[in-house]
Amino acid sequence: MQAPLRVAITGAAGQIGYSLVFRIAAGEMFGPQQPVILQMIEIPNEKALKALEGVAMELDDCALPLLKGMVMTSDPNIGFKDANVCCLVGAKPRGPGMERADLLKDNGKIFISQGRVIDQVAADNCRVVVVGNPANTNCMIAASQAKRLPTERFTAMVRLDQNRAQAQLAKKAGVDLTAVSDIFIYGNHSPSMFPAFAHAKISGRPATEVIKDQAWLQGPFCETVGKRGAAIIAARGLSSAASAANALINHVRSLWTPGTVHSVAVQSKGAYGFDPHVWAGMPVKTTTPGSFEPITTYALDEFAKGKVAATNKELVDERAMVLPMLTA
Ligand code: NAD
Ligand code: LMR
Repeated sequence: MQAPLRVAITGAAGQIGYSLVFRIAAGEMFGPQQPVILQMIEIPNEKALKALEGVAMELDDCALPLLKGMVMTSDPNIGFKDANVCCLVGAKPRGPGMERADLLKDNGKIFISQGRVIDQVAADNCRVVVVGNPANTNCMIAASQAKRLPTERFTAMVRLDQNRAQAQLAKKAGVDLTAVSDIFIYGNHSPSMFPAFAHAKISGRPATEVIKDQAWLQGPFCETVGKRGAAIIAARGLSSAASAANALINHVRSLWTPGTVHSVAVQSKGAYGFDPHVWAGMPVKTTTPGSFEPITTYALDEFAKGKVAATNKELVDERAMVLPMLTA
C-alpha cells in the first residue's frame, strides 16, 4: 500500500460534499490502491460543523479500507495542512436579488484567504481544484495569492460541462454514450461556455458528419449545455450536486492518469485568443499524475471563434470586477 494522500475538501457538509467524500474514500478519485486522509473544512457555524460530524460518522459506518484518517475543522490552517489535493467546493451561493458582481466580491474574499493559506501550509506537491462558483474566476483569485506553489497547479472544473455535452450528443445521434469522444469545453463555466462540437467524434467519425443538423449544433446544443445548471436548479430547487461531485471525481482521476485528454479550466497563456490573465476551459493532456499540457493545436472556425471571444470577454470582465481585491 502507498502512503495516504491528504485530500482537503471545503464545503464538505454541503450538497456536493455529501455526494463526494464517500466516493473519494471508496477509491474512485485515486484508484483502489491509494489510501486517503480526508481533511474536511466547513464554516465556523454550529449547524455546519454538526452536519460535518454527521458526515464523518457515516464515513466511519462505511468501513472503507482506503480511508486512513479524517480531519474535521473550520480552521483552514488545519484543514489545508500538508494537503496533496485541495478541492475548493465551499462557496457562498447567489441569493435573491444578488448581482454576479456581489457574488464575485463575496466569494473573492474567501478564495483570496484560502489561496493564501494553501500556499503557506499545503504539501509542496499540492494540486488545487476549484468547483465553487464562479469557478474560473475564483480559481484565478486563489492562484493570485500563490508565492510558493506554481500557478499551473490551480485548475477549475469544466468537466461537468464536458459530460453534459457528451450526453447530449449521444442522445441526438442515438448512440451509446461511449461512442462520443473528443468533445471539449472552452472558456467559462457559465452559459457563455463553448462545447466545441466541430472537433467531437461519434464512433470515430466527425460528429458533424453524423449529426448533420448544424442549426441544432450551433443553437439548442450549445444552449442546453450552457444552461443545464439553471435547468437543474429550476427542476430540483437546488443546484446540481451528484453530477458535480461525479465530474470532480472525473476531473481529478483524469488529471492523475497520464495520456488522458480532457477539459480543464487552466491558466491561459494566450492560446485560442484567451486573455493571458484568465483561467479558461480548454483541452489538456495529462503528462504525469497531477500535471498536464494544454492542447493548443485545434483550429477554430468562424463560429467557434465568435463563441470563444464571447466567453473570453466574460472572463475578462469578471477579472476586472475583482482586480482591486487582488492588488489590495
Ligand atoms: P451547498 O450550499 O450545499 O454547500 C456549500 C457548503 O460550503 C456549505 O456547507 C457551506 O457551509 C460551505 N462553505 C461556504 N463557504 C465556505 C468556506 N469559506 N469554507 C468552507 N466551507 C464553506 O452548495 P453545493 O451545492 O455543495 O455547491 C457548492 C458550490 O459549487 C456552489 O458555489 C455551486 O454554485 C458550485 N457548483 C459548481 C459546479 C461546477 O461545475 N463548477 C457545479 C455545481 C455547483
Ligand atoms: C451547474 O452548472 O450545475 C452549477 O454551476 C450550478 C449553476 O449555478 O449553474
